[in-house]
Amino acid sequence: MHINPERSLHPDYDMLVRQVTSVLEGERSLVANASQFSALVFDTLAELNWAGFYLTVPGKNGRDKDLLVGPFQGKPACARIPFGRGVCGTTAVERKTIVVPDVHAFPGHIACDSASASEIVIPLIKNGEVVGVFDIDSPILNRFSEEDRAGLERMVEAFLDATDF
Ligand code: SME
Repeated sequence: MHINPERSLHPDYDMLVRQVTSVLEGERSLVANASQFSALVFDTLAELNWAGFYLTVPGKNGRDKDLLVGPFQGKPACARIPFGRGVCGTTAVERKTIVVPDVHAFPGHIACDSASASEIVIPLIKNGEVVGVFDIDSPILNRFSEEDRAGLERMVEAFLDATDF
């Protein structure tokens, strides 16, 4: 499917939200929709090196909950992140989007790829439960603006509306 000829640092988020709905229309499968969503993000935003899902699963080693890697685009990543650890685990506990301008300045950041310099993590909240997070990494510092945060949160909302967990 041809979506966007050029990746952009300032994408048209109104259009991207509509594209989420149109690409996911007719299927409610989590694996299918999460795969399509991460491909859409990776293919339309400039300067990314990773975009994908971590999904909430029962914890290991006595922990209550972990995040387990799900559909993504980019290099192989850390598979399992405990709730409360790193940017992803902190987002899952705080239930709020976290924008990190410089990952090396974030205490406890989990470096899956040394190329990552900045990141944004958006919680996935369905019926009041954190069912996972959507994580995007960039090789440049300070990649994600307030405009990106607002636009990506709307895209995630459209994904959640279109998908069964
Ligand atoms: N940086 C994340 C780990 C996940 S990877 O970047 C794909 C974190 O600290 O939560």
